[in-house]
Amino acid sequence: MTTYAKPPVANGANTAQSLFSDPDTWSAYGAQWNSGEQKVLQCCAVRDETHDVKTFIFRCAEFSAISFEPGQFITLSPIIAGQSVARCYTVSSSPTRPFAFSITVKRVPGGAVSNWLHDNVREGDTLLASGPAGSFTPVGHPAAKLLYLSAGSGVTPLMSMTRASFDMAARLDIVFVHSARTPIDIIFHDELSQMQTSMPGLRVLNICEGLGVDTDWSGPIGRLNLAFLSEWVPDFKEREVFTCGPQGYMDAVKSLLKQGSFDFQHYHQESFDIAVLDTEPLLEQPSILDQREDVFTVTLSRSGKTFSMPGNQTLLTAAKKAGAIVPSSCSQGVCGTCKTAVLQGTVEMNHNGGIRQREIDKGLRLLCCSKPTSDLVIDL
Ligand code: FES
Repeated sequence: MTTYAKPPVANGANTAQSLFSDPDTWSAYGAQWNSGEQKVLQCCAVRDETHDVKTFIFRCAEFSAISFEPGQFITLSPIIAGQSVARCYTVSSSPTRPFAFSITVKRVPGGAVSNWLHDNVREGDTLLASGPAGSFTPVGHPAAKLLYLSAGSGVTPLMSMTRASFDMAARLDIVFVHSARTPIDIIFHDELSQMQTSMPGLRVLNICEGLGVDTDWSGPIGRLNLAFLSEWVPDFKEREVFTCGPQGYMDAVKSLLKQGSFDFQHYHQESFDIAVLDTEPLLEQPSILDQREDVFTVTLSRSGKTFSMPGNQTLLTAAKKAGAIVPSSCSQGVCGTCKTAVLQGTVEMNHNGGIRQREIDKGLRLLCCSKPTSDLVIDL
């Protein structure tokens, strides 16, 4: 009889039952993992993509199918050194394959969660996650001609879009221009090349800043600029553009498109570096314009706790200061992790797509981007 070694237990992750014993595989068939719900994920496999990028393949521990749009992200909340730390990661796989899905993660200096994932998560380990969420998606922006521009691990949401188009046999004209530091840093190089050979509408171009150790590289060297784009994609002004990468790269892309008189109604970019950065927790930026000095009383309905807070502070900051445990991640109104019902009172909320209108109609608010305009009772 074959026996299988128990997978190693990651620090802060729990190892559930062996992947080779799944009698419940079909019991939850048809169930979905929807936006805002927390699920336990189980790691099915870890794959090296480059020397510092790994793909982690997960499934919901109880076999729900993830329901997301290509380009959206999930929020992982591993326990690291005894603390739950939340980070958003774009799903790199396609929503057409919803049972086992992946994130693709680069090691980054100071990247608390990214580096922890690299060093600790193995097949069989389990992690808590919420999501999926995000507004960087082609859904709702129908276009026959697309231009994907990515740099570094900003490739992940665009890879999800490309894989989805491939699986759907979509007849789309896609040009995918990816910028990498050196040839060995190109993520998904082989898979995109293969897709290109069997998907007539897909054209992939990689550009490297330098050669690094790969002296055989015969592709373009340098940084993306208007001359390069005009030569390779002369009809770029007719395309719906989706871009993701470090902020400096996206600023450069915007500037070159501006030079090329591109119509920005057809431009989309990831609203913050979800796919790219995992540094220290994203800090809330107080607005220097916001000088309101009103003070409001907030009551937490579950604990009965009450505290006072100024009107120029977010509910997330104030609730955490008051000792409330509030799940949060992006602090930018994007990920949806801090969604909470406001039971009484009013707030001013400036979100970035992390909540839907129907949820707002039900009284939910994102605490990270909501400030009180009256005394409140919230569902915490
Ligand atoms: Fe991400 Fe509030 S923490 S929306």
